[in-house]
Amino acid sequence: MFKVTIDNRTIEVAPGTTILNAARMIGPEVAPPAMCYYSKLKESGGKCRTCLVEVSKGSEKDPRPMPKLVASCRTTVMDGMEVKNFTSPKVIDARKGIVEMLLTNHPLDCPVCDQAGECHLQDLSYEHGTEGTRYEFKRHTFELEDLGPYIQLHMTRCILCYRCVFAANQLTGKREHGVLERGDHAEISTFLNKSLESEFIGNVIDVCPVGALTDKTFRFKSRVWFTKPMDAHRDCPTCSGKARIWMRGEEVFRVTARKDQWGEVEDWICNDCRFHKKETKDWVIDGPSMVARNSVISQGHYAGKVGTTKPQVYVDKVLGRQPKMLMDIHSISDVHR
Ligand code: SF4
Ligand code: FES
Repeated sequence: MFKVTIDNRTIEVAPGTTILNAARMIGPEVAPPAMCYYSKLKESGGKCRTCLVEVSKGSEKDPRPMPKLVASCRTTVMDGMEVKNFTSPKVIDARKGIVEMLLTNHPLDCPVCDQAGECHLQDLSYEHGTEGTRYEFKRHTFELEDLGPYIQLHMTRCILCYRCVFAANQLTGKREHGVLERGDHAEISTFLNKSLESEFIGNVIDVCPVGALTDKTFRFKSRVWFTKPMDAHRDCPTCSGKARIWMRGEEVFRVTARKDQWGEVEDWICNDCRFHKKETKDWVIDGPSMVARNSVISQGHYAGKVGTTKPQVYVDKVLGRQPKMLMDIHSISDVHR
């Protein structure tokens, strides 16, 4: 076993473990953010640079620090290695730069984006970004492309993390889409506009860290934080049938795979469960989902958190009425319905 210290916390891990996974074993307080690495997808990682860390001591044998920050999802630990993540000013500064770079072309359309509230880039920019933008130019635009009946592609929001490409390759057994062109021309595309028809292709929506791939059956129906996530299962001949259903009252607004504390899918689900089972009678409800990620979705969902009470809501008392929507955001946005 190799001993590695991350942000002053020491753990022993098997040789071959990456710094990122060693940090995840310690816990979220030292784990670097990851926008492209996905433990369930082979070859993922190494694209986005959000997981950069400082190696202040290479190993017991060679204690020299590594000269540059390294991608923790692609760097394996050495015995006696010492790593700084949140304790390194260099890392914090570099991450600010990464957020700024990821947002160079990404539109700031969170108010109309279905991913808002569960977007890893939104979380990342709140946690590591700066308040303003220095960007003065027109952002990159693309021709609208149809990805079939279930999935909506907003290429302007894509950060080219390749997760959806790996998911499509590895889950469907055949290559359905990929990244065409390179550099600032790079874009996700189906080959010859072939629609994505595989039974498991809906999972690309769940692996996308931003709102570039969204569920057409849920688009613009509700903000995620107004829905209540419940773990549910059904007897499905195609997949495990273990899913998360997002309810408002008795209505099922959308179905997704269940995700773990790193925001990664636990069990891939099929298109039938995801897109066609939208009634409560289709599901056996196991109970409220534990939302472990530090997300707006967990606000107001106190189930399972021992010793917490729901805070008082004062907005209506201050306003003297229930808050209501003051404008139709679509009228001032160029996002297509
Ligand atoms: S569409 Fe989403 S998952 Fe695919 S490369 Fe872009 S950001 Fe990543
Ligand atoms: S998570 Fe490591 S480079 Fe993207």
